[in-house]
Order: sequence, then C-alpha cells, then structure tokens
Amino acid sequence: MNIFPSQKAIMFSWLLCGIIFNTGLCSFNIHCNQQDMHALLNFKQGIIDPSGVISSWSTKLDCCEWKGVVCNNITSRVTGISLPCSTTLPSYRDEEDKSHCLTGSIHLSLLLLELEFLDYLDFKNNDFLALQFDYVQNHNSHNLSIVTSPRQCVNSSSLRHLDLSLNKNFVINSLQWLPYISSLEYLNLRHIDLSKETNWLQLVTMLPSLSFLNMCYCQLKDLSLSLHYANFTALNVLRLSANEFDSELPKWIFNLNSSIYDLDLSMNYLIGHLPKSLLNLRELEDLDLEDNNFDGPIPDWLGEFEHLKRLILGVNNFSGSIPTNLGNLSSLITLAIGSNPLTGVVSKRNFAKLSKLKELHIYSYSRLIFDFDYIGFHPFNLKN
Ligand SMILES: *[C@@H]1O[C@H](CO)[C@@H](O)[C@H](O)[C@H]1NC(C)=O
Ligand SMILES: *[C@@H]1O[C@H](CO)[C@@H](O)[C@H](O)[C@H]1NC(C)=O
Ligand SMILES: *[C@@H]1O[C@H](CO)[C@@H](O)[C@H](O)[C@H]1NC(C)=O
Ligand SMILES: *[C@@H]1O[C@H](CO)[C@@H](O)[C@H](O)[C@H]1NC(C)=O
Ligand SMILES: *[C@@H]1O[C@H](CO)[C@@H](O)[C@H](O)[C@H]1NC(C)=O
Ligand SMILES: *[C@@H]1O[C@H](CO)[C@@H](O)[C@H](O)[C@H]1NC(C)=O
Ligand SMILES: *[C@@H]1O[C@H](CO)[C@@H](O)[C@H](O)[C@H]1NC(C)=O
Repeated sequence: MNIFPSQKAIMFSWLLCGIIFNTGLCSFNIHCNQQDMHALLNFKQGIIDPSGVISSWSTKLDCCEWKGVVCNNITSRVTGISLPCSTTLPSYRDEEDKSHCLTGSIHLSLLLLELEFLDYLDFKNNDFLALQFDYVQNHNSHNLSIVTSPRQCVNSSSLRHLDLSLNKNFVINSLQWLPYISSLEYLNLRHIDLSKETNWLQLVTMLPSLSFLNMCYCQLKDLSLSLHYANFTALNVLRLSANEFDSELPKWIFNLNSSIYDLDLSMNYLIGHLPKSLLNLRELEDLDLEDNNFDGPIPDWLGEFEHLKRLILGVNNFSGSIPTNLGNLSSLITLAIGSNPLTGVVSKRNFAKLSKLKELHIYSYSRLIFDFDYIGFHPFNLKN
C-alpha cells in the first residue's frame, strides 16, 4: 500500500510524541484540507438552509469539525457528508414538517469533482427538489466549462454510498449520470419521483460494484419485461416496492447471478403464477411479494429455499391449500400468507420444521380449517 508523504510525517510525529512525552501534551488537531473546504463552501452556496443546519460551515472552524462532515483521521481529507434531516410525524398530520430541512438543488457533479476522496453521502429525509449533474471537465473550480464529449466527464471512483431517499418532492428526470459514479455500492433513491426515467434498469446495471439498490416508491413503470438478463455483478439487495409495474415477473429477475438475498417487489400490481425459476435465487433470505395480484397455488417448491427467513405472500390472489412443504423452511422467522383466498386444512404438518418461527400472518376471508389438537402454537416461539 502507498502511504502519502504527509501521512508518513504525521505517523512519525505521533511516534515521536509517544516516545518523548508519553503524555497528552501532543494532541494533533485534524486540519481540514483547503481544497476540500472550498468545495464544501461552494456546495453550501448552492443549497437553501432555512434553519441553519450547516451554519457551522464557515472558515472560522476547521472544516473537519463542521456539522455532518467526516474526515479521514490520518489524511484529514473529507470522506463523508452525513446530513440526514430528522422529522417526526405528528399524529394530526399525514406529512412530516420539513420546513427546517435542507432544500434547493444538489450539485452532485461539483461535489464529486472537487472532493476527490468523498466516499459517503447521506442527505436522507431532507427536502431537496432537484439534482444537477453537469458533464464537466474541471481544473478550476470557479470556471466550469461544459465539455461535449461525455468521456471526459466526472468519473468518480471513490463514492460508494449515496442516500437521497425520502426527499419526497425530489424529481429526477434522468439517471444518465449514474454510470459516472462507477464506484457506487449502495444506492438509495426511495421515494424520489423517477417516473420520467424509462431506462433505469440498464443504467443501474452499469454500476459494477452495486450491491444495494432501493428504488421503492419511485413511480417506476417499466420492469423491462422483454429483458432476459440484467448483468448485475454484485447485487445482493433489490427493493422495488410500491412502483407501478403492473405486469408479470420479468425473466431477468430469475437470471440474476449475483447472489440476491433480499428481494422486495411488494405493492406493484404484479400478476401471474409464481414461476419455478424463482428457485434460481438460491440465496434468498427475504422474499416480499405482498400486495400484488399473483394467483394460482402457493407453489410447493417454495419449501426448497434453504436460507429463507421472511416469506411474505399476503394480500394476493393465491388459492388452494397451503403446501406442507413450507414446513421444511427451517430458517423461517416470519411467514405471512394472510388475505389470500386459501382453502384446505392448516395443521401441525404445515409447521413441521419451523422451529424458529416468530411471526405468523395466516388469516383468510375464505374457508381455511385449522386442525390443531391443542390451543396455541406451543412447538414454536411465536411472538406475534
Ligand atoms: C481513525 O478512524 C478509524 C476508523 O475510521 C478508527 O477506528 C480509529 O479509532 C480512528 N483513530 C483516531 C485516532 O481517532
Ligand atoms: C471560463 O472558461 C472559458 C473557456 O474555457 C472562458 O471563455 C470563460 O471566459 C471563462 N469564464 C470565467 C468566468 O473565467
Ligand atoms: C469510470 O472509470 C472506471 C475505471 O476507473 C471505468 O471502468 C469506467 O468504465 C468509467 N466509467 C465511465 C462511465 O466512463
Ligand atoms: C451490462 O450490460 C450493458 C449492456 O447490456 C453494458 O452496457 C454494461 O456495461 C454491462 N455492465 C457490466 C457491469 O458489465
Ligand atoms: C451470468 O449468467 C449468465 C447465464 O448463465 C452467464 O452467461 C454470465 O457469464 C454470468 N455472469 C456472471 C458475471 O457470472
Ligand atoms: C383471483 O383468481 C381467480 C381465479 O383463481 C379469478 O377468478 C379472480 O378474478 C381473481 N381475482 C382478482 C381480484 O383478480
Ligand atoms: C418437504 O416437505 C414435504 C412435505 O411436507 C416432504 O414430502 C419432503 O420430503 C420435504 N423435502 C425436503 C427436502 O425436506
């Protein structure tokens, strides 16, 4: 590993201090990098801060001590900005009050360009309205010149974590900029209006390290039904709840060969029978298909998911009886199959190996017969 000269110097001084004084006299304050400080001040200028959340961002203080700013404690370069807004939901309203949160526009390309070591960006639950991402080539932060060739754009290879979720008035018309943050591993865009971006899937698959994707409540409509493969290489968590897909499950879902352990497709108007190819997702621990319009039987092969901890199939149109094979899911903690027109008999056989089960939702509006020779579910540690 390379050690920067400045890093060497600091380590050397630490050592000296330790040897000579062996006291608390030698305390090194982190000193903010000037370029990083100017980048942050530039960013501050572009946003609206009605309640002074980032009033500490001024030259009077070391920028590593500014609110929400995280510096590497050896190099003292800025590596993170963490400014989630905290709100509470009063019981008499259905929207949180966000009047104290940050708003305006996030100039993302500028941040990435100027903060070379930025690794972590969290603006969760604020009230940002728009995102700017210029395809710029910049050598002088005061003069941005738009370049025509997109090959010379920002190409960040340090940002790994980007959370813009729950900025509910945020509209992002295009995600064309995503591939230019090729280092992204965690992307949370929950509750942002992405209804104008029809090519979202292709764009997110161009992120080779992406392992977590949350695009719930994004008003997405297109699930790329015709696509057979989506070449995610590192994806583990895929959450696409509460969009407007209104179709069958697309083939690419079953052909994901990164190991998905968390798949959430709830509240999407999805239709059809569950295809057996779902079993390709062998590593699944959490499968949530609640509140769609799936029909046909609850397939018995669901009992073959060895690692499944949460199986949520409630509020669909599954009919027939509950297969006893589900009783093989020995890792299962939550089973929710309520609100389906299920019939038949539920007995101990349905729970044969469910020794870890803690939560069970099994109510039905149709005729389901419970056949137990004692009251309560003594064999399990049911909490709910
Ligand atoms: C420096 O940061 C690392 C991890 O980020 C932490 O474990 C360590 O304790 C920090 N060292 C000091 C001196 O603060
Ligand atoms: C910015 O750069 C462009 C060309 O690179 C130049 O024409 C323009 O005058 C510069 N603007 C400022 C404010 O320096
Ligand atoms: C960004 O850079 C990486 C290598 O650092 C490269 O693999 C990737 O293709 C580049 N992305 C774009 C969109 O230019
Ligand atoms: C995935 O495939 C698309 C084209 O189908 C390609 O543009 C993209 O670079 C690929 N991504 C990776 C990570 O291989
Ligand atoms: C994913 O699976 C497809 C089809 O099985 C295969 O062609 C491709 O090489 C695999 N990709 C990776 C990254 O394993
Ligand atoms: C549920 O499925 C049945 C067939 O099993 C069908 O007749 C019915 O229309 C479906 N209900 C809804 C709400 O789609
Ligand atoms: C799963 O359960 C079914 C019925 O309860 C049983 O016939 C089958 O052998 C079990 N499969 C495995 C792999 O345990």
